Amino acid sequence: MKTYKIAVLPGDGIGPEVMAEALAALKVVGEKHGFSCNLEYADVGGVAIDKHGEALPKTTLDTCRKSDAILFGSVGGPKWESLPPEKQPERAALLPLRKIFDLFANIRPVELYPSISSLSPLKPEIVNRGVDLLTVRELTSGIYFGQPKGCDAEKGFDTMIYHKSEVERIARVAFKAAAGRRKKVTSIDKANVLSAMVFWRKTVAEIAKEFPDIQLNHMYIDNAAMQMMINPAQFDVLLCGNMFGDILSDEASALAGSLGMLPSASINASSFGLYEPGGGSAPDIAGKGIANPVAQILSAAMMLDYSFKETAAAAEIRKAVRDCIESGVRTRDIGGTASTKELGKAVAEKIRG
Ligand code: NAD
Ligand code: IPM
Ligand code: MN
Repeated sequence: MKTYKIAVLPGDGIGPEVMAEALAALKVVGEKHGFSCNLEYADVGGVAIDKHGEALPKTTLDTCRKSDAILFGSVGGPKWESLPPEKQPERAALLPLRKIFDLFANIRPVELYPSISSLSPLKPEIVNRGVDLLTVRELTSGIYFGQPKGCDAEKGFDTMIYHKSEVERIARVAFKAAAGRRKKVTSIDKANVLSAMVFWRKTVAEIAKEFPDIQLNHMYIDNAAMQMMINPAQFDVLLCGNMFGDILSDEASALAGSLGMLPSASINASSFGLYEPGGGSAPDIAGKGIANPVAQILSAAMMLDYSFKETAAAAEIRKAVRDCIESGVRTRDIGGTASTKELGKAVAEKIRG
């Protein structure tokens, strides 16, 4: 039997709660599709600071290096916000993991299931035109990583910089993704103000020539955020730099009912990936057993798709999630009363059949 070695990093807040449900789904789907998962748990984020004195201990990094994929929960929370910025979980664990493994492509699908379109905050006449989009976000460069950055008593500063190869490779990911979808890429920038974004637009337009079947249009970030509210159906693939993709993916997730529904894949050129919910540790609901496990479960499905090519198993997880939600098993954020465990269990049982 095929065995995949997975580094499991539940992290902080709701991370461990939703991770348990993703692992339950993986176990059942593996039994049906003839593979097993060899899980290696490791501490990351705030819990790792508390236990080992650092957010990304060497042992955790070693576990990740020896694995076929990383399944990640979430990191951060109020408890660690008073630490020096460079020691906080987000900056000391998540960003380094993305950089070390060169996980430059962050893929976040947002799909509103028609039968629950009433969960969307938008008016029915807007959402009923359809919400089915994919944000393709550059994840290892841009203003998150550009040097110099810092702050002192007088100022704080970051640098937005994009090199040609960085824009080219993420643009190709977006065009290839669009080829398997509705063949439309909207590239998001701020080329009316920022030099890095003038360069972004020009480079994306050059790469578009390699993909004559794909329609490309450019949109400024401010307009895009507004268009997302008035006509989300126009979007297929949204190609974004690091910061704009962060913002637009959270915004888009709300169209589908909740940030708790947003999975993500962060992959490198060899299809090695870190799979994590788009949302965070949700301190406001952590420990209550009410977090939506769907983002984590669907992130595990993305791992099966992108890193392991177990496409049938991934599709089965997605179908089970959809069936459960449509049949009314829903957590609070999507208008139900089910607990994290109840929804997770329903998904696993649906897969088991
Ligand atoms: P958040 O994404 O944690 O929460 C925003 C809102 O969405 C909250 O109301 C939360 O309850 C809700 N939400 C998020 N996931 C949910 C789920 N699965 N089910 C139901 N509701 C859900 O964002 P925040 O509050 O701005 O950040 C909290 C902490 O998480 C911060 O420390 C932040 O840096 C960190 N963070 C981590 C990651 C990550 O580890 N990948 C991502 C984003 C934020
Ligand atoms: C995300 C998160 C992270 C980001 C933070 C926690 C560093 O918001 O994955 O979207 O900004 O990339
Ligand atoms: Mn984010």
